[in-house]
Amino acid sequence: MRRIAIANLKDGMRIAKEIASPTGILLIAAGTEISQFTINRLKSVEVDYVYIHEETDATDTINYNKLKIRYGNLVQKLKYSFRTLRFGRKYIADELDTNIDQLIAELVKSNNLIACLKVIDKKDEGLFFHSANVAVISVLIAKWLNLSDEEIKRIAYGALFHDIGMTKVGDYLVEKAYHSNYRLDSDEEWQIKKHCVYGYQLLSEVYGLSKDVAIIALQHHEAIDGSGYPMKIKSSNIHPFARIVAIADLYDNLISGRGTKAHNYFEALEHILDARFQKVDPALSLLFVKNMVSFYIGNRVSLSNGKVGEVIYIHNNHPTRPVVRTKDSFIDLSESRNIQILDVVV
Ligand SMILES: [Fe+2]
Repeated sequence: MRRIAIANLKDGMRIAKEIASPTGILLIAAGTEISQFTINRLKSVEVDYVYIHEETDATDTINYNKLKIRYGNLVQKLKYSFRTLRFGRKYIADELDTNIDQLIAELVKSNNLIACLKVIDKKDEGLFFHSANVAVISVLIAKWLNLSDEEIKRIAYGALFHDIGMTKVGDYLVEKAYHSNYRLDSDEEWQIKKHCVYGYQLLSEVYGLSKDVAIIALQHHEAIDGSGYPMKIKSSNIHPFARIVAIADLYDNLISGRGTKAHNYFEALEHILDARFQKVDPALSLLFVKNMVSFYIGNRVSLSNGKVGEVIYIHNNHPTRPVVRTKDSFIDLSESRNIQILDVVV
């Protein structure tokens, strides 16, 4: 039996524990198969989570292992593609295309966000791993937006190649930029910033690749308040796919500590919410954070006051400050702002 947020329910899952109203009226019986009708009913009575029959631990492990293999294969093919595109090849090899399809398929069908995040949870600062991580996160966002398979694939390509322009900047500088403890001087920063235009130029010439992919490379550092680069364009002028990749890029940088200190999961999400009126798209960042957090309903977290508790309710307006039930009390983190979530207890 597993506890799951309503937002993560899928057709075909089976309710493991009956759901009753506060006055004890049976709303949905144990054994009921989840359908859109059941999901709507649960939403209408404001139920936040239910217990479902397990995708067993074994299934979760298989799911994780498959994802890990797909991810590893993709990184390998990506290294090769970066090299050849950099030196003027104008097409994407079929093997890379197959690997992207396989990874997307695995991510789209996976209902186990923890497995998806575990795959990318490595502190490797290299360009290829970063690119693959940004692709994983971007595909998840695209999935939560219910985009079509074809759109998801364009976003995945854009995410994988968003930093390909770095290959034109020079290895020495790129090494420095990807080294979390190194601060670039202003001239180096200026050189690095050129990677958006270089990437756009490279990708625009690749045969059969959607124009959107090149635009993602060009615009992934633009900010919605116009303070980004290279063109300093604002909000709706930034391509929606570039806005998705910008959030994924920011998340991976925060988690891996690239250009900043390394943040834990909840800190990173809070940072993204804080950035939503200056840097990143407000609606997209809210959708991203809500989906990331909703998965943790029913999971245990450690708090900065030394207590451990279970996340039982997520506020709409403060998704990173949920209500946590500890052994002896309920702590509403949206009110107790001095208490932080330190980590998820597995
Ligand atoms: Fe970049």
